[in-house]
Amino acid sequence: MAQKTAVVIGASGAIGKALVNLHLRHNDHVVAISRETINTSHAHLNKFETDYTKANIDELATRISRIYPAIHSISICNGVLHTEDHMPEKRLESFDIDYFGMLMHINTTIPFMWLQAFMPHLMSTQTPCVVTALSARIGSISDNQLGGWYSYRASKAALNMLFKTASIELQRRKCNAKLMLFHPGTTDSALSKPFQNNVPAEKLFKPEFVAEQLNIFQNNREFNGAVDFIDWQGKNIQW
Ligand SMILES: NC(=O)c1ccc[n+]([C@@H]2O[C@H](COP(=O)([O-])OP(=O)(O)OC[C@H]3O[C@@H](n4cnc5c(N)ncnc54)[C@H](OP(=O)(O)O)[C@@H]3O)[C@@H](O)[C@H]2O)c1
Repeated sequence: MAQKTAVVIGASGAIGKALVNLHLRHNDHVVAISRETINTSHAHLNKFETDYTKANIDELATRISRIYPAIHSISICNGVLHTEDHMPEKRLESFDIDYFGMLMHINTTIPFMWLQAFMPHLMSTQTPCVVTALSARIGSISDNQLGGWYSYRASKAALNMLFKTASIELQRRKCNAKLMLFHPGTTDSALSKPFQNNVPAEKLFKPEFVAEQLNIFQNNREFNGAVDFIDWQGKNIQW
């Protein structure tokens, strides 16, 4: 018998896919949302394709909330660091308005639109729900010792600020949801591929390990109104 319902957004990515598989192994109901066709089939898996437009996000969140009145976790895995044309900036001269705009849209606006779209559900459900956005330590302003990577840093810092601000509103509105920003550590995926050369093998995590860690923290969160910005060990990261 299925235990819980987990929504995974950005389900074709390395971490998204690992989360889908983990929840299926745990016998949870899984809602997998992606731009891509998800090839996995399972009796407990419900798949939705999206174009990540606001209208489509709103429509899907409403539809999913009707099908699943009790959602226990929503994990938003979207994130882009580099494209065919653009690598993260090493110097100010490389700052590019289009690359910056794209990262802000995918890394910041899209995750926040999903939180916004699920607000009616979160406000009305009796089931406590943990909403996690995949963030990054590099989005910490106080931890920024190295500089560089302007657009990615800014997009994750902005994501963190939006979630922090939303957590204050959710507490005020007595919403039974917990917000979490999760840094997975350097994880083997298309996103980290160009930067893996200098990473010692033991520090390059498998997506399956990261999914296990995230699941542990989602299950053990204290519903205290605060947003948690934590890493793969569960340690707090400075804002
Ligand atoms: N890997 C790392 O070392 C690392 C480190 C720190 C933080 N993170 C964060 O962890 C998260 C997951 O990354 P990953 O390592 O799993 O990367 P990945 O395998 O490259 O997955 C990319 C993710 O971004 C989404 N995405 C890609 N292009 C998109 C677009 N044009 N519009 C909307 N969504 C798009 C994908 O969703 P679809 O399924 O819809 O394609 C997928 O969820 C990201 O937020 C990333 O910033 C990763």
